[in-house]
Amino acid sequence: MTTATQTAKKSAVHCRSVTKSYATAGTKVHALRGVDLDVNSGELLMLVGPSGCGKTTLISVVAGVLERDGGECEVFGTDFQKLSSGQRSRFRGESIGFVFQAFNLLPSLTAAENVSVPLLIQGVPSSRAQKKAKELLDRVGLSDKINTRPAQLSGGQQQRVAIARSLVHDPRLIVCDEPTSALDGDTGHKIMELLREVALEGERALIIVTHDSRVYNFADRIVRMEDGLIAPGSIDPTTLH
Ligand SMILES: Nc1ncnc2c1ncn2[C@@H]1O[C@H](COP(=O)(O)OP(=O)(O)O)[C@@H](O)[C@H]1O
Ligand SMILES: [Mg+2]
Repeated sequence: MTTATQTAKKSAVHCRSVTKSYATAGTKVHALRGVDLDVNSGELLMLVGPSGCGKTTLISVVAGVLERDGGECEVFGTDFQKLSSGQRSRFRGESIGFVFQAFNLLPSLTAAENVSVPLLIQGVPSSRAQKKAKELLDRVGLSDKINTRPAQLSGGQQQRVAIARSLVHDPRLIVCDEPTSALDGDTGHKIMELLREVALEGERALIIVTHDSRVYNFADRIVRMEDGLIAPGSIDPTTLH
């Protein structure tokens, strides 16, 4: 039975005035210029905007992969930058699943071994980790590629392995950088259905960076970035098709 307490929104991500610059060859690129962002558990948020506007930088800061220069950022009430490096790795390892734009699969490992890495890092015994990895590969439609290494997989198959790896440890926050970019329309649709299901079944929060207007209708909310800032007004996904 649903009660008011159970449906109360829980904050997953809370960012205020987040800034981040990169120093390159004597010049400074202001990638984030004061970003405010809130995402709740159970919500699938899409982040859209032109190339170079700061999407990857923002989700990397949120996921604790990059340090911000200024502002506040908490994930489930925890500020990465207040943790020691050991605590930070543990928190990230337990709470966050990240799908990198470049997939970042380990070339010497099979698909199942790649997917099991987040569990092995947490000390889950190898046989159990492999079993869970195979279940996830099955869910992304790759049960016949369990023992295949990344070099023998297509871009779309590598992307699905990366997605399986981001989900295998049941993280509370899943962050995906263009997860359907290498997929055909049908497979992209199936992957979005899976991500949507995962968000709903576990009250997880998802942030999905995308250029792919074919999947906008899976979002609860679409936020647009422009030149290092969140552009005013969210896009209502129900008006897009
Ligand atoms: N490692 C880096 N070093 C220097 N500049 C970077 C680096 N990563 C991103 N940038 C710059 O920061 C800005 C935002 O980049 P990014 O977050 O990758 O945008 P998006 O993901 O929206 O394409 C761009 O101008 C980009 O060139
Ligand atoms: Mg990017």
